[in-house]
Amino acid sequence: MKEPKPIVEIAATGRWLPERVVTNADLEKELDTSDAWIRERTGIRERRIAGPEVGAADMGARAARIAMKRAGVHAGEIDFIIVATATPDRLLPSTACDIQAMLGATNAAAYDISAACSGFLFAMEIAEGHIAAGRGDLALVISTEKMTGIVDWTDRSTAVLFGDGAGAALVRRSSNGRGVMSSYIRSDGTLAELLWRPAGGVRIPMDAGVLERRDHLVKMAGREVFKHAVKAMADAADQALVRAGLTGDDIDLFIPHQANMRIIEATAKFAKIPMSKVYINVDRYGNMSSATIPVALDEALEQGRIGPGDNVLMVAFGAGFTWASSVVRW
Ligand code: UT7
Repeated sequence: MKEPKPIVEIAATGRWLPERVVTNADLEKELDTSDAWIRERTGIRERRIAGPEVGAADMGARAARIAMKRAGVHAGEIDFIIVATATPDRLLPSTACDIQAMLGATNAAAYDISAACSGFLFAMEIAEGHIAAGRGDLALVISTEKMTGIVDWTDRSTAVLFGDGAGAALVRRSSNGRGVMSSYIRSDGTLAELLWRPAGGVRIPMDAGVLERRDHLVKMAGREVFKHAVKAMADAADQALVRAGLTGDDIDLFIPHQANMRIIEATAKFAKIPMSKVYINVDRYGNMSSATIPVALDEALEQGRIGPGDNVLMVAFGAGFTWASSVVRW
């Protein structure tokens, strides 16, 4: 198969994580759980938690400023701000508009997208579409998640899994044949109720009953979600590789969504990528929904784990269900 020609590349990345670390031992004091259970079933050792003074827009703007500084980009040059978040600061207007105001990116069109944990890769594909269509040259793609704000702290089956953080990527027209080689986005809305917040929108508005049932918080059928995640991430890995005309052997670094170590291992095995080429930070941050991939990408770049010419495979899965993948050549 002929190699695709990238339309866009990632000019720079940034991340922001709250300072406060909450370990499994800390959670043992609040919930009927154990460090051993959490580590064995998920691989998580600790997570970051943002304080009440920090919102999704604050975190996203901080990650974005780092990416902008690294790329030498001024706020006025940005054409699009696309924010993937499952935890907007409020429902109207968008978190992206708040970030636009914080950055002073007055020439941009800013909006949020809702694709849960797959949001970063969905937003990357949207940014590519805008630039391919000639509607602009520079897009800021941000994933910012204050998951601890929507977690039910009385439910041990979900409370131990999530953390807060934000990642950003500046996307521009490709030069030198580097950039996004392939991307793939999918969803299956028939399975929404396996991972959702049942109430708090217009269908079932917030009232005393909702609060009492805690239906405004995350509910997950963990084992079911696990099975679908393994299958969908294998499909997504395969699609991104085929569309890029590559195999697992050609991948220098694999960055999977960081929800559960066992899902990561199963996906790597399916894609025939050794664990030495898999970037892991679920142990330090837990599941930060859409922010896991850009935060991991930013860390991997900082650590020199990605060099010029390297092929990076990214694969995500989340509520919706949604799943997505991409191969980016550095
Ligand atoms: O990012 C979006 C996508 N999300 C995911 O990919 C998450 C997918 N799911 C998972 O990662 C896993 O299903 C979990 C980590 C959520 C759960 O692991 P599991 O191996 O599927 O456990 P389970 O839900 O089947 O529960 C096994 C047992 C249950 O007890 P019994 O019924 O066997 O007595 C649970 O009550 O573990 C119990 N349990 C816990 N025990 C201690 C559930 N949560 C905990 C806990 N501490 N925190």
